[in-house]
Amino acid sequence: MTPYKHISVQPVSGCVGAEIGDVDIADDLDDAVVAEIRRALLDHLVIFFRDQDLRNIERHKAFTRRFGPLFVHPNFNQGQSNPEIVYLTREPGDTAVAGEKWHADTTMMEAPPMGAILHALEVPDHGGDTLFSNQYRAYDTLSDGMKRMLQGLRAVHNDSRVAGPKAGLNSRRSTKVREDPDWRMTENEHPVVRVHPETGRKCLFVNSVYVHRLAGMTAEESAPLLNYLYAHAARPEFTCRFRWRAGSVAFWDNRCLMHLAINDNHMAARRMQRTQIAGTPVLHSGAAPA
Ligand code: SIN
Repeated sequence: MTPYKHISVQPVSGCVGAEIGDVDIADDLDDAVVAEIRRALLDHLVIFFRDQDLRNIERHKAFTRRFGPLFVHPNFNQGQSNPEIVYLTREPGDTAVAGEKWHADTTMMEAPPMGAILHALEVPDHGGDTLFSNQYRAYDTLSDGMKRMLQGLRAVHNDSRVAGPKAGLNSRRSTKVREDPDWRMTENEHPVVRVHPETGRKCLFVNSVYVHRLAGMTAEESAPLLNYLYAHAARPEFTCRFRWRAGSVAFWDNRCLMHLAINDNHMAARRMQRTQIAGTPVLHSGAAPA
């Protein structure tokens, strides 16, 4: 592997995640540094930075733009002057947190975001960690028979569990989403196995937050296979766990990774500031194994 010249890269588990050092991401970074950060992201799927200061949202947005156009989430932060910034806030007493089930972000979109950059403003002194799971590894460890069965299958993703009048999340948490009667569901189909547009590698691309069924099947018919895949995709050996400090930043590749915000500390505030990077339509995985 080519050594890094501008940053340090320290893996945090056997399979996913690395801590990046020797860089201040609020600076105007040279192209060579940005290229190494992108390489580290592609190699490790989620990269972590410590002791950063992106509280100035223009710095947060500027760092994000080095990796692609900013994505505006359709269900958060309606009407604010900076809709590209999402505040994921837990106040003491909240019983739900945004992202508390395994998911990739915003996969109901025709072109789901390529990634997200999450900056911790205030975190509890214990609890509130985030888990990440490597979906290349999830695909690679399936049997050839299962890989053949998944080839060509598509899943129907929509946002009706996380937004709109039926979601009912706003009464349980401080992070608000659109629940107004004018909200309209967004629904798109994506391949169950996708090809990463930069690495060319195959990965699993289903999650229980957005997927409702397999295309051409009922929810009941789809459930046994989907439930198997959800459990497999979150096997502990595919994961890492990140313990936040104020000033920590996680930057994840939403195309090949799932994540989960652990809902385990009900009495402490946790305040996070997030941007997302626009993605491209999901590529189909091509040929099945022989
Ligand atoms: C998310 O799902 O984007 C939130 C993750 C977190 O707050 O840890």
